[in-house]
Amino acid sequence: MNIVILAAGQGKRMHSDLPKVLHPLAGKPLLGHVLDTAALMNPEVICVVYGYGGDAVPKAFANRQGIHWARQETQLGTGHAVIQALPFLKEDADTLVLYGDVPLIKAKTIDALKKVANSGLAILTVTLKDSSGYGRIVRKNSQIIKIVEQKDASSEELVIAEVNTGIMLVATTKLKQWLVNLGSENAQKEYYLTDIISMAVEEGVRVGSVEPESITETLGVNSRTQLSQLERVFQKEAAEFLMEQGTTLFDPDRLDIRGCLQAGKDCSIDVNCVFEGNVVLGEHVSIGPNCVIKNVHISDGTRIEAFCHIDGAQIGKRCSIGPYSRLRPATTLAEDVHIGNFVEVKASHIQAGTKAGHLSYLGDSTIGRNVNVGAGTITCNFDGANKHRTIIEDDVFIGSDTQLIAPVTVRRGATLAAGTTLSKEAPEDMLTLSRVSQKSVRWQRPMKKKP
Ligand code: UD1
Ligand code: CA
Repeated sequence: MNIVILAAGQGKRMHSDLPKVLHPLAGKPLLGHVLDTAALMNPEVICVVYGYGGDAVPKAFANRQGIHWARQETQLGTGHAVIQALPFLKEDADTLVLYGDVPLIKAKTIDALKKVANSGLAILTVTLKDSSGYGRIVRKNSQIIKIVEQKDASSEELVIAEVNTGIMLVATTKLKQWLVNLGSENAQKEYYLTDIISMAVEEGVRVGSVEPESITETLGVNSRTQLSQLERVFQKEAAEFLMEQGTTLFDPDRLDIRGCLQAGKDCSIDVNCVFEGNVVLGEHVSIGPNCVIKNVHISDGTRIEAFCHIDGAQIGKRCSIGPYSRLRPATTLAEDVHIGNFVEVKASHIQAGTKAGHLSYLGDSTIGRNVNVGAGTITCNFDGANKHRTIIEDDVFIGSDTQLIAPVTVRRGATLAAGTTLSKEAPEDMLTLSRVSQKSVRWQRPMKKKP
């Protein structure tokens, strides 16, 4: 199969500098969704017809291999758009036409289209209560005889409820023959791809049709309102899927997955969480409300409390994180670690049983087992030019309001007194403190002057 994806249109109603097909749905450009579905079909050729926005569209997909990009300089119609793709198409395979702004089309529906195409022509149609704006499917004795565009339709044709979705499958040799004969004598002076239907009928080629399981598969994005509607359709499906797999969602309407979320059984997700990139949850993981979680692996039994921001971390079993914790990339936590409120952890490895409960910054650090990090502890990892590591060995106790000036090491079993500014190694099992000793003097507190 050849797949041609039409994506040259501007999308005027988006009122945007960004070409329409690059607007994200569930964190991925509209065209990305179509390309992913296209790839599922294992086609021999994928060709995207682009135009508006110039090279911005191919550039956005520069990391995808094997896509042919056909430029349509001026948008003279859907037929003209497909003509731009012809040089790339394999003649002995059928050609599927998809739209870059119709993101939710399913592989299953394309398979159904393949079954009825029979090396001829098959169209995906839908029946709508309000068919205005669409090309109408004209049938005679139940056979499709042509598609007529809204602006060219007679009053009898305008009442037809069955419409063209734009998605069709055509034998490539036929497609080539028909496209060279396209004219633009119509209300819009455009080359209509849909005119090939009557050409096929004239040649005696039977035109098949199928309807999708859901109309949402064929809905296009022409405005930001429609974009938001398809976003909700997508999210609802993703939420349903998670629940079917054994995850409790406190409210499936208040969940956003912008990437891939995998969850083991008996996970629960409270409201207003956003998942980005690849997120994997083990079993019995619970996520509190209002968390943003991106590219994270969270192991069995871990609890993430409300308002956490977690990006690029690996979290072990039975940890408790938050509320209000921030875990940044290259952070790994072993089992039974507790990271509490207003604690930021970056590029750090924290071993089992360690706790940092309150108001700390742990950056570029390696922290052993059963360490207690007191409130207000800061690893001073940056000297203004370079980053340095802090090493804290097992069973260390760090008093509150301590600064560790990296590079520095705290040996096993050491205790750092509260308020210590550590600039040299703290030896094993000793108390290290660096603060002036306390004294008390008699004094007179200043008094307010009388006027
Ligand atoms: C087209 C169909 C119509 C169908 C409707 C479904 C034709 C003549 N009409 O109408 O029967 O009901 O889609 O939405 O095919 N595009 C290009 N280059 C162009 C013109 C369009 O790449 O020169 C792309 C657009 O970016 C879009 C798609 O083709 O992705 C459809 O274009 P659009 O202008 O929305 O088609 P309609 O006229 O609405
Ligand atoms: Ca359209």
